[in-house]
Amino acid sequence: EQVAAVIPAAGIGQRMQSELPKQYLKLGGRSVLEWTVRAISQDPRIRAIYIAISPDDPYFQQQHFASACPIVAVEGGATRAASVAAGVERAVADGFTWVAVHDAARPCLTAAELEQVVTTALADEVGALLALPVADTLKRSSKTRRSEGSVAREHLWQAQTPQVFRAADLQRGWQQLGTDHPQLTDEASVLEALGLQPQLVPGRRSNIKITQPGDDAIARLLLFDDS
Ligand code: C5P
Repeated sequence: EQVAAVIPAAGIGQRMQSELPKQYLKLGGRSVLEWTVRAISQDPRIRAIYIAISPDDPYFQQQHFASACPIVAVEGGATRAASVAAGVERAVADGFTWVAVHDAARPCLTAAELEQVVTTALADEVGALLALPVADTLKRSSKTRRSEGSVAREHLWQAQTPQVFRAADLQRGWQQLGTDHPQLTDEASVLEALGLQPQLVPGRRSNIKITQPGDDAIARLLLFDDS
């Protein structure tokens, strides 16, 4: 089975003037996005990589990708879901039936995690995503930021990426829901809205999403630690 990777990287919007978007931060000699592309191309079943970028992104052209498969830039949309949908649409036009959606800001994905989630997805009716069982005690906060109570974490997982699904299911979901909801923060949500239940594949904490200041330092440790 052949799988297309789709990487949403179009979220630069209003930050662009002031600050370098996080996917273009440098980790050693490579940008976050270059590391991410390298990571997602490690499985031979991934045959093409579609990257959704903003039309006024001045950085993408300067990227040097190390990938065994073709890289296709597509124009992203106003939300993450719209950007992913644009990538999926192009992948479908190129003949792909399965897609592995992966955050641009997760450069520390390993070949083993990727292999597991793709293998599990392709053997499943619905598909699969990497996720992490919640390890901390969860608190519900009051309006004044006091701890009102604890939330049972027993059945709670943090969703990561890659998330590997049939393109047709995602497209059916977006047709029903639209792609303009900022709360569609992952692709599994789209399938869940259709009543489908993707498999959770236990991932690793090291598959971090570079989000906050300091996360890039953690990523450097993870990428360059050979102990
Ligand atoms: O900001 P956040 O981490 O939720 O963004 C998730 C991903 O979605 C980022 O990789 C961002 O570049 C991407 N995105 C996009 N198109 C948008 C908004 C966000 O591709 N319109």
